[in-house]
Amino acid sequence: MKRKVGILISGRGSNMSALIEAAADPDYPADIALVLSNRPDAGGLDRAREAGLQTAVVDHKAYPDRASFDAAVDARLREAGVEIVCLAGFMRLLTPGFVEGWRNRMINIHPSLLPLFPGLHTHQRAIDAGMRLAGCTVHFVRPEMDTGPIIAQAAVPIAPNDTEETLSKRILSAEHRIYPLALALLAGNLLRVEGERAVIDGALPVDLSGMVAAPEFEG
Ligand code: GRF
Repeated sequence: MKRKVGILISGRGSNMSALIEAAADPDYPADIALVLSNRPDAGGLDRAREAGLQTAVVDHKAYPDRASFDAAVDARLREAGVEIVCLAGFMRLLTPGFVEGWRNRMINIHPSLLPLFPGLHTHQRAIDAGMRLAGCTVHFVRPEMDTGPIIAQAAVPIAPNDTEETLSKRILSAEHRIYPLALALLAGNLLRVEGERAVIDGALPVDLSGMVAAPEFEG
């Protein structure tokens, strides 16, 4: 039985697209039941509609505070029968009440090797720190931003001449590999949260080799 997934976006939705493509495979353990944006002009909405998916806009500007916005989002997700929430470039902070309501059923992608570089401008901060490796992380969501048990990570080398733009492009292609992988682990019931660690159970039907990216300096 496939698990029903809701994807929350605010922008172009390239990670959302990667999830949509993965879910098109009949053997993938999740179906996208809803794509919800807080911004009516999010580019990802068109892509979701083209794919024939149900979409919703819950414009945060129409709500007096975070709690009422989150309650409206929650209602839309539950109406659509969503069981797992994927944050994919969703640029609103969520209230602890909302986050706890989806505990261990809501995941996020972040463009750094967490717990390094939570927050914004992660690519430039990794370059400025002289890091040789950057990467991305899919993790369970906890009330504190960019924390929570780690499900999947990919390491991406930083080239000597990298800029924020070239590095973010290289990391983005790794994001598109690990997000579908992480969702497959969760939807396939292969994850257990022990303390604050996500443990992968049993024999793996999915290929984890995508978590280490080969150098792609030409991209
Ligand atoms: C990605 O870099 C993701 O890691 C971060 O926001 C960006 C969203 O990009 N959380 P997209 O909308 O998925 O293309």
